Amino acid sequence: MLEQLSQDIEKAFAEADELIAAAGNVDELRQAESRLTGKQGTLGALLAAIGKLPQEDRGPAGKEINLAKKEIIDRFATARARLERAADRQAAAGAPAFDPTLPGNVVPRGSVHPVTAVQWEVEEILARLGFIVATGPEMETDYYNFEALNIPALHPARDMQDTFWLTNGRLLRTHTSPCQVRAMERLGPPLRVIAPGRCFRYETEDASHANTFFQLEGLMIDRNISIANLIAVMKLILNEIFRRDVKVRLRPGFFPFVEPGFELDMSCEICGGAGCPTCKRSGWIEILPCGMVHPNVLRFGGIDPREYTGFAFGLGLTRLAMMKYGVQDIRGLNSGDLRAIIRPEQRTGPAIIAKD
Ligand code: PHE
Repeated sequence: MLEQLSQDIEKAFAEADELIAAAGNVDELRQAESRLTGKQGTLGALLAAIGKLPQEDRGPAGKEINLAKKEIIDRFATARARLERAADRQAAAGAPAFDPTLPGNVVPRGSVHPVTAVQWEVEEILARLGFIVATGPEMETDYYNFEALNIPALHPARDMQDTFWLTNGRLLRTHTSPCQVRAMERLGPPLRVIAPGRCFRYETEDASHANTFFQLEGLMIDRNISIANLIAVMKLILNEIFRRDVKVRLRPGFFPFVEPGFELDMSCEICGGAGCPTCKRSGWIEILPCGMVHPNVLRFGGIDPREYTGFAFGLGLTRLAMMKYGVQDIRGLNSGDLRAIIRPEQRTGPAIIAKD
């Protein structure tokens, strides 16, 4: 008799598998399940038949049928989970297609500061002309910042550069020109050197003045260097940076370490020459003080002025960055305001950084 039962149970398993395979959705599956495990179902009929078995077979038969029932319920549960997952996938397929090759959201990772970008650019242009980069300390001595640049103690020219004096007798360099004499001492003539760096002045801040700013010093010394060489190099730098033939003008300018000295102005990039607060409504912006190296400075650097001449310039990197990227207020560049330091290639128009 129990053999018969085993066969019936096998049949019930086969029926369950068949119904599971045929069920197209969760509802059909539920109906199929009750056809097997329900009171009126296949297993229900087997249980009901137990009463007809001999007394000693009833216990084992009941046990076996219940085990089979458990197994079949498990199979249905697995099938239901599979159908539910398929339904989810189908619902998702109705949604807009997901393209795994699309680029993700871009997380900004920081970028180069406009002053650094301009500095690198100028370095690159001048490197092509054989200039090398030299540096000097931000905390300077009176000797290199003034004395060796032909600005002796008590000279009125010291007032041109309001200085942060330090308690150790040194100072925060007011310009990158101290690198001139340092380079002459270190390298000797002939030389082509640029010295980019941070400078400090005891200034009241406004749209075009900051107490901390960047310059790039240039120095070329050789036999027969003339003003023509100076002008050629200055024009080349500005034309390359602004990628056009910039308008410039030269005015006489006084700096004790050059003779003759010039102020090189270029037409204001921000207002196009019409006049704005940055150019103090003049349409011109002072960008490049320069001149022929004073013989005294050559001597301080250990170079014989009867044999060598040279020119020097002090490019205002901060001001140049403002011009190039259309930054209206110099304070924006030192503020950490990310709108001021957007990556040049990301820019769609001039980023106007004005502070109230
Ligand atoms: N060092 C000068 C300044 O900052 C600029 C300058 C450099 C002028 C080189 C002439 C030659 O004011």
